[in-house]
Amino acid sequence: MNIELLRSTFKAVTPRADDVAKLFYSKMLSVFPQVRPLFAKTDFEAQRKNLIQSLSAVVKLVDQPDELNPLLVKLGESHNNYRVTPHMYRYVSFSLLATLAETFGDDWTVEAAETWEAALDAVSQKMIEAQAAMVA
Ligand code: HEM
Repeated sequence: MNIELLRSTFKAVTPRADDVAKLFYSKMLSVFPQVRPLFAKTDFEAQRKNLIQSLSAVVKLVDQPDELNPLLVKLGESHNNYRVTPHMYRYVSFSLLATLAETFGDDWTVEAAETWEAALDAVSQKMIEAQAAMVA
């Protein structure tokens, strides 16, 4: 994973982060309507902030697993309460990758897409493991 590229692309969208998050949720809820019930009572303004904050922590701590992993374990555990199932993580990754591609337009590269896919896969894997450990 190209950490520098992960950081530079995140930084590039930071000024537009709220709009990017808006596009992400609108994509996910329209392409995967099966997740809509999970967000029935959600305050999306707050939720967009939560998502941006958590992605910001991932990008910052991606090379410090001792710091990042406990955060992801906690986040995974909280997602049990939201009735999130393992395959739903693919919906998040797909929707976020599509959102980034649309946001960057012609500036989006194969390497950037692969870097983000790898990062989201790693985050999902940790969260899913934490959820599974809690249920077991
Ligand atoms: C990359 C993986 C993900 C990240 C970084 C992430 C991040 C977050 C954060 C930071 C919160 C705020 C509450 C908390 O800290 O527990 C949250 C809440 C939530 N997430 Fe996720 N999440 C991810 C995956 C998913 C998936 C796969 C789903 C299901 C489609 C999902 C559905 C929800 C729901 C329903 C809430 C609660 C919303 C509410 O308060 O009404 N998340 N998420």
